[in-house]
Amino acid sequence: MSTVANQQGLTDKGLGYKAHSIGGFRFERDEYFAHIFYPGGRHIMPVDAFLRALMRDVAWGFFYGTVNFDNVFGTVNHYGTVEMFIGLFNEAYRSTNRHHVETFESKDLKKVFEQMLQDWVNEGFDPFAAPDETGAPFGAKKGNNTKAIQRQRMVADRMVGLPGDLGYRTDQNGYPLNRQFQDIPTDQPEVHAEPGFEKDVHAYNFFNYVARSDVTWNPSVVSCVKDSQFCATTEEHILPITHGNDRVEWFIQATDEIIWDIDDRATGKPRAKVVMKAGDVAAMPADIRHRGYSPKRSILIVWENNDGTLPQKYASGQLKPYPVEF
Ligand SMILES: [Fe+2]
Repeated sequence: MSTVANQQGLTDKGLGYKAHSIGGFRFERDEYFAHIFYPGGRHIMPVDAFLRALMRDVAWGFFYGTVNFDNVFGTVNHYGTVEMFIGLFNEAYRSTNRHHVETFESKDLKKVFEQMLQDWVNEGFDPFAAPDETGAPFGAKKGNNTKAIQRQRMVADRMVGLPGDLGYRTDQNGYPLNRQFQDIPTDQPEVHAEPGFEKDVHAYNFFNYVARSDVTWNPSVVSCVKDSQFCATTEEHILPITHGNDRVEWFIQATDEIIWDIDDRATGKPRAKVVMKAGDVAAMPADIRHRGYSPKRSILIVWENNDGTLPQKYASGQLKPYPVEF
């Protein structure tokens, strides 16, 4: 296995970017495109879409199930190892036996992906930001954006807003209300603690907190009780990946609207178009893939079940792919 970045690539035009390889895969970029070479073929993606997807795959630790960068290339998380594939969930590639899959240790693939981000993301482009809030990723190599791609999550030391917590977001610590959330109520709840409990009892305006997020399509865990993970996100433009579920995933649309394309997870055949408005709740089945479109920045709460036995239970048919029978 070679993780050494090569200076000279097939598409090298002296733009300053390196080629990156792992196993039989080799990645190159030019002004506009990411090129993916693999045994028996090549694939091409717009470099902006590729980098946005790559950023999520790294930041989410390969996420739950499948991260489709597009309808051909992506990764499947086996929680310790990762499959990287061409055409694995594409009916045309599968039926003509043109798909290609290799398995890597998660840490090895993560390292190559991180090196690629470091090399290919130019100064002024933040792959986590909405397109209207960042620069363009195109052209020859120009600097880097280490700050954006190595972003550390703000971690609450105790309940957000209680004395001693550093995770609270305010104008003063560099988290202003997002330009598209100026209509969000920011009033704070009244708290009347019993004497002696003023430092232990607290409440805060969750909308006012989430609406200050400076990233898009990046779930952060808000509460974690055993395997129940409650993740709030702000979404704008397009989910940079098409997520293939390996378990049921619940969505609560808290503000505004997201339109979802729901396709069959294995083949990519369209199954549904779901419009979620503020207040809507949906259970995304365990046998689909989905991509969301958020015309205006919106708040979506994603509820994940982190139980590691679930993928096998759904894959074997022990559990139905949906949670409720009507
Ligand atoms: Fe998802």
